[in-house]
Amino acid sequence: MLTIALPKGRIAEETLEIFSQIFGENFTFESRKLILDVGEFKFLNVRNQDVPTYVMHQSADLGVVGLDVIEEQGLDVIKLLDLNIGKCRVSIGIKNEDELDWSKPNLKIASKMVNITKRYFATKAVGVEIVKLYGSIELAPLVGLCDAIVDIVDTGATMKENGLKVAEDIMYSSVYLIANKNSYYAKKSEILALFEKINSVVEVSKR
Ligand code: PRP
Repeated sequence: MLTIALPKGRIAEETLEIFSQIFGENFTFESRKLILDVGEFKFLNVRNQDVPTYVMHQSADLGVVGLDVIEEQGLDVIKLLDLNIGKCRVSIGIKNEDELDWSKPNLKIASKMVNITKRYFATKAVGVEIVKLYGSIELAPLVGLCDAIVDIVDTGATMKENGLKVAEDIMYSSVYLIANKNSYYAKKSEILALFEKINSVVEVSKR
C-alpha cells in the first residue's frame, strides 16, 4: 500500500489522469472527500504547500508538488521524478515603467516565497526587505507596497494585465514526484515499480 499526497486542483487531476492511464481504472476524488482509496493506493487531497509536510512526516509515502514549493520549504524529501506538468517560472516582476535598481540600499520585495527571495538576493549581495504576502502579489507594486515582487509566472497574463514586466527569472519549476526517505527504503520495490510506470507515461508526454 502506498499513500500519495496530491495538491488540490488541476495538478491532482492531471496526476490521477496519469494513474488512470497506467492502471486502466478510474481515479477521481469524490466531491468533498479528502481520501481516495483505489487498489494498492491511498491518495490524500491536500493544499499545495502542505504536500511536503505530509511526506516529511511520513503520513504520505509519496507526494506530487512543484519544485518552487520544495525549494521554498527546503524540507528533506527525495525528488524522484520530474512529471513534466505544472511548468512555470519564479520571476522578479516590476512595473513596466521601472527598472530594477540593484544599487538601492534596501530593495523592498513582496512575495509569498520568502526563502527563495532571500536566497536569490543574497547571492547578488543585495540587501532586501521582504514583505510577506499570501496572494494577489501583483497588486503590491501598484499601490507602493514594494519596489518589486517575486512570484510565479505561468502564462504571464496576470503581470501583463496589471502593467508589470519580468525583470529577471530566478528559477524554472515543474511538478515532481517526491518520496519520504524512510518510505523509499522500506517500500523500495513498490515505489520503483510505480516510478517506472509513471516514467514511461511522462517520457511519452515529453516527446
Ligand atoms: C499564481 C501566481 C500569479 C499567477 C501567474 O497565482 O501567484 O499571480 O498565478 O499566472 P499567469 O502568469 O498565468 O498569469 P494563483 O492563481 O496561485 O493565486 P494567488 O497569487 O492568489 O496565490
